[in-house]
Amino acid sequence: MSNKTALVTGASDGIGAEFIQILASRGYDLILVARSEDKLNQLAVKVGGQFGVNCTVIVADLSEPNAAQNLFQSIEAKGLDVDFLINNAGLLHNGFFTELNLAEQERMIVVNILALTALTHLYANNMASKGGGHILNVASLAGWMAIPNQNVYAATKAYVLAFTQALSNEMVAAESGVKVTALCPGYTATKMMDNPDQGATLRIPSSMMMSARDVAEIGIKACFAGKDIVVPGVANKLTAIITHFFSKTLVTKVFGSFYRKNMD
Ligand SMILES: NC(=O)c1ccc[n+]([C@@H]2O[C@H](COP(=O)([O-])OP(=O)(O)OC[C@H]3O[C@@H](n4cnc5c(N)ncnc54)[C@H](OP(=O)(O)O)[C@@H]3O)[C@@H](O)[C@H]2O)c1
Repeated sequence: MSNKTALVTGASDGIGAEFIQILASRGYDLILVARSEDKLNQLAVKVGGQFGVNCTVIVADLSEPNAAQNLFQSIEAKGLDVDFLINNAGLLHNGFFTELNLAEQERMIVVNILALTALTHLYANNMASKGGGHILNVASLAGWMAIPNQNVYAATKAYVLAFTQALSNEMVAAESGVKVTALCPGYTATKMMDNPDQGATLRIPSSMMMSARDVAEIGIKACFAGKDIVVPGVANKLTAIITHFFSKTLVTKVFGSFYRKNMD
């Protein structure tokens, strides 16, 4: 019997690089997608060798027009069938909205929202026609609130969270067999926490961060369990709950003050 296949976007680094190792350890063949060809090839050789699974590398920039459709077609052309989709690729920009480059903010909206939505549409249909599958969309704890100085990013993640939760419900109601989950990590130790290309740098103590491996494990387990939403870690869960007990104005003031104090 052939292995199942997982497609992971943003597989070259951070949480995505952990997703592929966890899925390979569960016997999934992999399709690795990102822009960094060398990193993807190195990971494909490492993970393929370690777990004896097939790894296909597809270099794609998901901010390009029709990137999701082109990716879907190139996977079909290779005769690969996707059983598990992880929409993980994402961008962050920190700083005052008015000072940040508008084109970069728009690129973030395209990758975080449009490419994710298009890939979800293509594969939700594809999986439903086969009687089942898994889709894990990486949102963020940032999607639970308004975050000054990260405002477009947080808004893109609010979209991913609401879109994914609603779709999860639709797919269950339609008895499609497709399990759809939104993963909402808090601060996670990846290059996203320290990337000079993302506008201002945030000074977040490492004690406040979870490891990318733990976050990825929790996301995959929740998706197999058919949960609509998962927030990894006790502190993150508490933060998500607390945001519902206070007014949006107060929560926004607290986060605005925290970010302005901890942004270089
Ligand atoms: N780290 C955190 O604290 C945190 C918290 C909550 C949510 N998240 C979310 O978790 C996901 C993964 O983030 P991470 O922390 O692992 O960040 P990361 O280490 O910066 O990895 C981001 C991944 O996305 C890929 N990517 C970026 N732009 C792309 C594009 N235009 N086309 C294709 N791939 C692209 C990158 O690969 P290339 O550069 O090779 O293209 C990389 O593989 C994101 O959706 C992020 O918003 C992260």
